[in-house]
Amino acid sequence: MKRRIGILTAGGDCPGLNAAIRGVAKTAILEYNMEVIGFKGGFRGLVHQDFIELTEEHVSGILTLGGTILGTSRDKPFKKNSPDDFEPEQKSKQILDMFSKCKLDSIVCIGGNGTMKNAYQLSKIGIPVIGIPKTIDNDVWGTDVTFGFDSAVEICTGAIDRLHTTANSHKRIMVIEVMGHDAGWIALHSGIAGGGDVILIPEIPYDISIICNYLQKRHAANKPVSIVVVAEGIAAGRKRTAGPYIAKKIEEITGLETRETVLGYIQRGGTPSAADRILATRYGRFAAQLIAKKEYNSMVAISNNTLHSIPLSETAGKINLVPTDCRLIKTARSLGVCFGDGCK
Ligand code: F6P
Repeated sequence: MKRRIGILTAGGDCPGLNAAIRGVAKTAILEYNMEVIGFKGGFRGLVHQDFIELTEEHVSGILTLGGTILGTSRDKPFKKNSPDDFEPEQKSKQILDMFSKCKLDSIVCIGGNGTMKNAYQLSKIGIPVIGIPKTIDNDVWGTDVTFGFDSAVEICTGAIDRLHTTANSHKRIMVIEVMGHDAGWIALHSGIAGGGDVILIPEIPYDISIICNYLQKRHAANKPVSIVVVAEGIAAGRKRTAGPYIAKKIEEITGLETRETVLGYIQRGGTPSAADRILATRYGRFAAQLIAKKEYNSMVAISNNTLHSIPLSETAGKINLVPTDCRLIKTARSLGVCFGDGCK
């Protein structure tokens, strides 16, 4: 009998999800002669038995597509997510029923930190799982990089480039808020790539007076234009108000004309970058290989460009923050970038 695997995409979407689905499915079908099904809307599809058969045709032509052909949600597999959802105590039974009814061998869960935690919970009720890390935030613990991140950095960098030209015309300070949840990876990378003058990340507590002094000094040195890149997760910013908050403070304290841009979901949309397509494809193929070898309950990871796997029990519940002494921060500081902390 052919082995059958299920795939789901959960959590916030990101560029590269379809490339990963394709990577898993094509390898499973073509190399290992497996059958593949896809659950719709993340864990919701698994609990509510909403799925489609994924043939090779279904996964052809999706490499460059943004979003996910399976749909996604932030539903948790063991909690009641909506009034029409099952009670928490029924959910394990529902999932186990689904698993045996579909004659599944294992399930591939493609997602971020929350998904890895949920995948680990699934493994604890006896479902063999493999996790594939994705997120624009790059905050999944245990891997060097998640797919989606490179595309988001590219989009943010392009946006910063555009802000430079309008800022120059008006001689203004421009504040741009980017995503990243509690991590500053997107702000750090796009801030450096886009030539940001100030970069604020959650990992480095800032002092607004240091930022304002820095901007005033630039202004006095005949540099009236400054770009301030703000991660959404900095203090005062949990509800995506970080950018507007910082812009208001700067204008109030310095009197310098300041505008803000909150980039929002544009960062998660559209076609994946080449690097994300490659990473997602490699992750997908590796996940199928792990299944073929029955090496379950682990997350696919990459370190120094080499794929490997780590137990879900190790990564679940952890988060990958920017190390404040990392090379990139040191590089930016050498170039005079202000992180709002007064360090040089
Ligand atoms: O985790 C990805 C992410 O885009 C974060 O950067 C952001 O904080 C969050 O998702 C937004 O989530 P939602 O789709 O639930 O609004």
